[in-house]
Amino acid sequence: MEPVNTGVPSRRDFIKSSSFLVAGGALVGTLGAASSVHAAGDDQIKIALIGCGGRGTGACAQALRTKGNVKLVALADAFKDRLDSSLGHLSSDGSLKDRIDVPQERQFVGLDAFQQAIDAVGEHGLVILATPPGFRPMQFEAAVKAGRHVFMEKPVATDAAGVRQVLAAAEESKRKNLKVGVGLQRRHQNGYIETIKRLQDGAIGDIIASRVYWNGTTPWRNSRKDLQKRYPNLTEMEYQLRNWYYFTWICGDHIVEQHIHNLDVINWLKNAYPIKANGMGGCEVRKGLDNGETFDHHCVEFEYADGSRMYSQCRHIEGCWNSVSEHVHGSKGTCNIGAYNITGDNKWRYRGDNPDPYQVEHDDLFAAIREDKPFNEAEAGAKSTMTAIFGRMCTYSGQELTWDEAINSQVGIMPKEFTFSATPPSLPDMNGLYARAVPGVTKVV
Ligand SMILES: NC(=O)c1ccc[n+]([C@@H]2O[C@H](COP(=O)([O-])OP(=O)(O)OC[C@H]3O[C@@H](n4cnc5c(N)ncnc54)[C@H](O)[C@@H]3O)[C@@H](O)[C@H]2O)c1
Repeated sequence: MEPVNTGVPSRRDFIKSSSFLVAGGALVGTLGAASSVHAAGDDQIKIALIGCGGRGTGACAQALRTKGNVKLVALADAFKDRLDSSLGHLSSDGSLKDRIDVPQERQFVGLDAFQQAIDAVGEHGLVILATPPGFRPMQFEAAVKAGRHVFMEKPVATDAAGVRQVLAAAEESKRKNLKVGVGLQRRHQNGYIETIKRLQDGAIGDIIASRVYWNGTTPWRNSRKDLQKRYPNLTEMEYQLRNWYYFTWICGDHIVEQHIHNLDVINWLKNAYPIKANGMGGCEVRKGLDNGETFDHHCVEFEYADGSRMYSQCRHIEGCWNSVSEHVHGSKGTCNIGAYNITGDNKWRYRGDNPDPYQVEHDDLFAAIREDKPFNEAEAGAKSTMTAIFGRMCTYSGQELTWDEAINSQVGIMPKEFTFSATPPSLPDMNGLYARAVPGVTKVV
């Protein structure tokens, strides 16, 4: 790893030389205020991590491993134990410890801690947003308002109102010349990039249909009983936050939380988003305590404007056929995209290298900040998030919907207030069970 602060101009020197360039006219009119300081050098980029769980901690390490002068200056999490464990993990990595400076006064805890972390990185800083996705719209909006560069995990919202909020902030981020990365890492994976390029160049002719899958098993679950032992004052809000995977307002359901990756690959390939969809889903097996309100399977048929279809399945049921993959069928052949394998008239297989896309997405984002190259994935991330929400709206309601109906839905699913004593939108019955959507009855638009 590169040494930190060695042979690197100080912030003041750099600003001086930038001012000189601006005074000389070279930069005037070409760079927005946000990234001009990093336009040609290795000035320090301060970062903060908001949401110090598994992925946030990983993303933070990846940001700290990018080339150049990067310093982690703040952490924020709803819970102190999560923050402590993340900081402990990052600090125990000898290769990162010179890049970490997070004293007690920049460790922020609580549901509004994100704003303090955004403030702490200062102008030209970057925030990593890695809380569960229900909080992403308000945090992204706040980060953009403050003029910060952003790396945010997928999905970027859990309902249509959240997507609209992210799209509005995305526009503002472009106007401010902020760089925004979204954690759809297949877009930074060589094998995918090369395969998509070939498909877009016509390797399998016209694309007629695609099939995408995230069929797997339950990733994790925290029981109320265990949580109550560890946190005796556990409120309903805290329970839902610590078992967030099973609550639609925080997670989006697994069609949004996981399957977005596969849906995004086809949107990327087609450079378009579905205009119509219908689907079915339910909860057949994953019932009972601590399984919240989400479904264990969804199956959706999406239609694009050119008439082509995307058939999508996602399932969390043990003992079934599993696959996480994307396939396309064209007039001259077929392709298993994640296997980088084209069959038919133009048979081809990618055999090149595949550096870790989780690292590459950060390398690309930080290089774009330093070189002031265009880099803003917020709109595409928001529209692929909407694709997954669109699918869930069809499976929850059992209706055929158009994209316009779905994205303009006024049916909100978020709580009115974000405190540990606030009432979440869904509450357990006397047996501790939550109601689920009922196709044919549940209204989503
Ligand atoms: N790109 C990928 O392949 C990938 C992989 C895993 C997870 N993710 C995404 O990363 C995000 C986080 O997932 P995870 O697995 O790290 O979950 P996690 O539960 O391990 O971490 C989430 C953290 O956010 C904190 N948090 C919750 N609400 C908060 C709030 N309002 N303010 C501040 N902190 C809050 C939690 O306490 C927790 O520490 C999710 O959106 C998930 O979909 C992406």
